[in-house]
Amino acid sequence: MQPQKSLFAVKSYEDVCADGEAGEHKLKRVLGPVNLVALGIGAIIGAGLFSLTGVAAGENAGPAVVLSFIIAAIGCGLAGLCYSELASMIPVSGSAYTYAQATMGELVAWIIGWDLVLEYAIGAATVSVSWSRHLVELFDSLGIPIATIIPIGGVNVNLGAIAVIVAISLLLMRGIGESAKANMAIVIVKVAIVIAVISVGAFYVKPSNYVPFIPPNTGTFGEFGISGIFRAAGIIFFAYIGFDAISTTAQEAKNPQKDMVKGIMGSLIICTILYIAFSLVLVGMVNYQALKGDSAPTATAINMTPFPILKVLVKFGIVAGQTSVILVMLLGQSRVFRAMSADRLLPKIFSDIHPTWRTPWRSNMLFMVFVSLFAGFIPISVLGEMTSIGTLLAFVIVCIGVIVLRRTRPDLPRPFRTPWVPVIPIAGVIVCMSMMVALDIGTWIRLVIWLLIGFAVYFGYSRRQRGGPAALPHPAE
Ligand code: ALA
Repeated sequence: MQPQKSLFAVKSYEDVCADGEAGEHKLKRVLGPVNLVALGIGAIIGAGLFSLTGVAAGENAGPAVVLSFIIAAIGCGLAGLCYSELASMIPVSGSAYTYAQATMGELVAWIIGWDLVLEYAIGAATVSVSWSRHLVELFDSLGIPIATIIPIGGVNVNLGAIAVIVAISLLLMRGIGESAKANMAIVIVKVAIVIAVISVGAFYVKPSNYVPFIPPNTGTFGEFGISGIFRAAGIIFFAYIGFDAISTTAQEAKNPQKDMVKGIMGSLIICTILYIAFSLVLVGMVNYQALKGDSAPTATAINMTPFPILKVLVKFGIVAGQTSVILVMLLGQSRVFRAMSADRLLPKIFSDIHPTWRTPWRSNMLFMVFVSLFAGFIPISVLGEMTSIGTLLAFVIVCIGVIVLRRTRPDLPRPFRTPWVPVIPIAGVIVCMSMMVALDIGTWIRLVIWLLIGFAVYFGYSRRQRGGPAALPHPAE
């Protein structure tokens, strides 16, 4: 039995790294820098770019949505630099959860681990619902009508979303190498399609569509003007989510000390360039006023070219692209819960590694059921902003973690150092918090409810597992 730990006692750097490597069956180290960049792009380009750009331009920012993409990229870049420092010095698969264990203690670590369910599991559910809708559209454009939402016993069930979650979970159980290969193929397809839209669309840009570049504010906060640019940044932030998921694969990277930063910053920079070019072309082709309420702006833009075939290709690219987002999100989720289970905060089932496949297959299976339930029954509007708020909270804690660890353990080797500490982490906290504030009040309420459920699990189960008067034996003992 372990002695009762203080809620704020931090785990030493040495323990964090040693525990990460412990266990009878280790994860396989197969990922090189190219795989890591591809995993990042795989997680980033998905539902957001293709569906949110039009709405953000049409309702909030006008052509200045390009600036919103730059602002969101700055917030992500600041957080990305902080993730890179911690991921290279603590190359353990729990990501932000593990960094919090080493910097702010168990309670904060628990909060962040629990919060990451919103980013990864609920994020996967969100994208799978969008995937299901786009699959219908893809088949429709091929002249084959299909339905993915089926009424069962009077309840509409999104069978398409459930099917993609089940298929990807099975792939993840099978092995990280196989998953990385599948991801690489998908990434090549989706990046090629984004580049095709940019290069063809550039010929159909009308310079008059860029005027006025920043439409005047209507008198309501967030409707055009400067406040509109920030509101749009909060909306399209979703499109950048995913680069941080790379840090959950640190224990599967061949050389995490060097390659984590390449994966995180490399994928972020590539996607930022693609996003800025894509949005610049889109608002140049279609007047922002025509984009109001348009959740398929890419199709609208392609209709202005004599290449309707591009529409089918884009739909294919969206479906493929979202498949890899779901893959990396589900991968990240199982790795975070594995780390929490190794610390006995969650049942051992989450850290069991399959003897041959060397994946946390039982965890993959449990999340397959959990995420399917959300994806199958909950509408996308309820799921979407939860993902953003959960991710932003994780970013804030990671930025603070860099400052704390620089003070508490200045001696530790840091293969990558965030420049200008504490300026960069503090700027990261401010930018991410301002994007959180821009989110809906309902989203905040749901976040609080989710965290309260987390506290109930922590004090009802995890603390007792960790030792103390009411300690229960660990299932492994
Ligand atoms: N960034 C991911 C997407 O846009 C979550 O789908």
